[in-house]
Amino acid sequence: MESFVKKAFFPFWQLVRQVSNNLFITFIAVKPISMVRQYIETNQDRFLAELYDLIRIPSVSADSRHKGDVRKAAEYVRDRIKEAGADKVEIKETKGHPIVYGEKMTGASNPTVLVYGHYDVQPPDPLDKWITPPFEPTVRDGKIYARGACDDKGQFYMHIKAFEIMMKKGLPNCNVKFMIEGEEEVGSDNLGIFVKENKELLKADVILISDTSLISLDQPSITVGLRGLSYMEVEVTGPNRDLHSGVYGGAVANPATVLCEMIASLHDANGRITIPGFYDKVDELSAAERQAMNKAPFELQAYKNDLEIGEVYGEKGYTTLERTGIRPTLEVNGIWGGYTGEGAKTVLPSKAHAKISMRLVPHQNSKEISELFTRHLLSIAPPTVKVKVIPHHGGEPAVTPTDSKAFKAAASAFEEVWGKSPIPTRDGGSIPIVALFKKELGLDTVLMGFGLDSDALHSPNEHYGLKNFFIGIETIVAFYKHFGN
Ligand code: BES
Ligand code: MN
Ligand code: MN
Repeated sequence: MESFVKKAFFPFWQLVRQVSNNLFITFIAVKPISMVRQYIETNQDRFLAELYDLIRIPSVSADSRHKGDVRKAAEYVRDRIKEAGADKVEIKETKGHPIVYGEKMTGASNPTVLVYGHYDVQPPDPLDKWITPPFEPTVRDGKIYARGACDDKGQFYMHIKAFEIMMKKGLPNCNVKFMIEGEEEVGSDNLGIFVKENKELLKADVILISDTSLISLDQPSITVGLRGLSYMEVEVTGPNRDLHSGVYGGAVANPATVLCEMIASLHDANGRITIPGFYDKVDELSAAERQAMNKAPFELQAYKNDLEIGEVYGEKGYTTLERTGIRPTLEVNGIWGGYTGEGAKTVLPSKAHAKISMRLVPHQNSKEISELFTRHLLSIAPPTVKVKVIPHHGGEPAVTPTDSKAFKAAASAFEEVWGKSPIPTRDGGSIPIVALFKKELGLDTVLMGFGLDSDALHSPNEHYGLKNFFIGIETIVAFYKHFGN
């Protein structure tokens, strides 16, 4: 990478030096456009066209009807990584959706960066809420609107383009490995197996991921914490069949009502979760740490305006940044049962259901929390109903160090490209594989995300800023430069 920088800047800097030496003039800050930025500008239309082709493939991992599309996306990613100049590029089969692997080894003494991303996306529903179709990328106000535009196609694609630039303009003093999976949005179970079985192949010095958010385009940040997850489903059964609500109502407990009462009891008046033992292992931050994290720019009024809510909600005694960054939470993701069709049907349903997830913080454990949840729900079930609790996927929380060589390289990259130091932040979302990388490979991750929390991830009208995409590519190239030196 150093060689690349020297190559790229040599004639220009030599000229500047000669002029300033000879004529005794001091350097006036007319910032030269960098070689990297120039390459991006020259190729921006092609970069976008490639990304759009990837976005057009509806690689919804949760929906078996899209199995073929998920594979098509994998093949597309494989071809682009190959084209950018990587070796050993191949599709690695799993029991589920495939993993794309590729690498460029530049020297045994160079540090190795393992780039992780995911080419699968969330389902696009509700479809009628999209202004333009989810798999037809459309640019409005400088943003690409499409499912996966930010999470994570637009973000991991920056890495392939950054790699292309380095291959064209001079090799990085780093080895690069790509591992792009197709099951992140459904829990990464098969990637977990792949990682355990391929420790040698995945040998690296650091994991690099762009799948998180920045504070804003004016204030860069690097994510240093992700929450874990326990995802549960609850089924409440009342009578053995749907009943006439006039004939039986009032005499038989309604499972929908019982489920609502049970769910409502899971938080107390202070917004705290009532499951016994839930907070036992929660890592409480010191006053100084909390003060530091609340220094990050955050506009409560703008936040409320954006969501059109009158007031925020949450655990008493904590700020909004703390509630999403360092505190565990419990949310109902969906609740259903009884008649929800057109018009009215007077029925007392036999069953009611809910999907409930909990976000976890260090040092909570996903399996333990799932067990506490199950035990608690069974214990509060009244004798009028039967309750069944089904655990879905989970994942562990993660925190990444800020004193590592890789973190410092990322910070230097932001300083160089953005002219500002990045602030470390804790994000509310989860990338379960990050904790697994640490456990199985002993590797720390640098979470260099370029999305924004307001990019509508998992929502209708997901989008990603063109600026974020292009400056992200530049920042990634700068990361390699600093990490390789
Ligand atoms: N990229 C997100 C996670 C994320 C988003 C982290 C924003 C930080 C900021 C990822 O694709 C995701 O959605 N993860 C899931 C978990 C997964 C197990 C389904 C999540 O957080 O719900
Ligand atoms: Mn993601
Ligand atoms: Mn996601």
